[in-house]
Amino acid sequence: MTTLSIIGCGFVADLYMRSLAKYPDIKIAYVFDQDQARKETFCSYWGLQAAATQCALLADAPKGSVILNLTNPNAHYAINSACLKAGFHVYSEKPLAMNMDDAHKLYTLAMERDLLLACAPCSVLGEAAQTLGAAIRAGAVGTPRLIYAELDDGFVTQAPYGKWLSETGAPWPYKDEFKVGCTLEHAGYYLSWLIAIFGTVKTVVAASANVVAGEDDAPDYSSATLFFLTGMVARLTCSIIAPHDHQIRVIGDKAVLRLDKAWDNSAKVFIHKRVTIRRKLLELPFAKRFKLKGATHPKLGRWGAASMNFALGPVEMISALQEGRPCRLSAEFALHLNEVTLAIQNAGSQSGAQDMQTQCPPIEPMPWAK
Ligand SMILES: NC(=O)c1ccc[n+]([C@@H]2O[C@H](COP(=O)([O-])OP(=O)(O)OC[C@H]3O[C@@H](n4cnc5c(N)ncnc54)[C@H](O)[C@@H]3O)[C@@H](O)[C@H]2O)c1
Repeated sequence: MTTLSIIGCGFVADLYMRSLAKYPDIKIAYVFDQDQARKETFCSYWGLQAAATQCALLADAPKGSVILNLTNPNAHYAINSACLKAGFHVYSEKPLAMNMDDAHKLYTLAMERDLLLACAPCSVLGEAAQTLGAAIRAGAVGTPRLIYAELDDGFVTQAPYGKWLSETGAPWPYKDEFKVGCTLEHAGYYLSWLIAIFGTVKTVVAASANVVAGEDDAPDYSSATLFFLTGMVARLTCSIIAPHDHQIRVIGDKAVLRLDKAWDNSAKVFIHKRVTIRRKLLELPFAKRFKLKGATHPKLGRWGAASMNFALGPVEMISALQEGRPCRLSAEFALHLNEVTLAIQNAGSQSGAQDMQTQCPPIEPMPWAK
């Protein structure tokens, strides 16, 4: 089945459509948004069939096909749940749900009905993340010991975000973004890579704070130390306060791996070898690039802050269904990602160590990254 339907056609939906255009075999059956004007603008621009209601979409979309839930985070649980109950595989934008009770209910629904349930971000399947994983597996840094990952986006409340529009003119939903918070919105961009490479996070020690954000908004800063079941330790920082920094560094016994752009599938992976020169120990500033051999996946130019192929996740789901194999973006992966992300976001100033209840093994690398 190569059919998708879409619920929610705001800012990110245009990014999905640009990405899906790279896969002409995939057909969009129906589109629904509760905002009638938005739905009409979106459907007429992209030449898509609008459904009158969500019920109509669930009744008319091909049974057993995939639905993309691209609505705002507070609507995710109800829509994911309705789609699963109606017998559809679900690819949800992040977060899977706003609390773990709801996330577990979705997981159970998917398991009971033998349906796929996956959650964004899918950049973990992209070239940059897959190259980083391949470099670690190839021993480019020796034994990896510690990871520093930053997702700082600058002082966003002072940015001219009122001017940020999608291709079909949907405004960047700043009120919702600030209410949901930068950790729920962004931590997954590196957390998904780390879980994919190292598997289960056993314990989270985190803090979060409203540095500038008002009481009604979510924390605009968080920092976490993640203790993986394998013994790996990682520090992850998210903020919409500190100057833009999307660096991830994997520090190993022999070298440091570095990548600077979380939201660019083509971001380069560098190896900085550690050497001693006379009495000094240093990582060489002249880095060697680690590259995969051969072709990877279709790439997209930059729109706004991202140069990402948003279709990688839905395409992985469709391929898994066609090939009768497990989906790399599994329901376990979505559940674990949700639990760790919520633990960081909700840490506040004195949560202490939080042991995770869910688990997830590392993700099988993409065939071109093995
Ligand atoms: N904005 C970005 O750059 C970006 C990037 C990556 C991922 N995301 C994620 O994408 C999702 C959507 O974000 P967005 O920026 O497109 O938001 P948005 O507000 O621009 O669009 C969301 C759309 O969903 C519709 N909607 C909300 N509740 C609905 C419901 N119950 N039924 C039908 N339609 C409903 C809204 O009317 C709106 O058109 C979020 O989960 C966000 O985290 C956003």
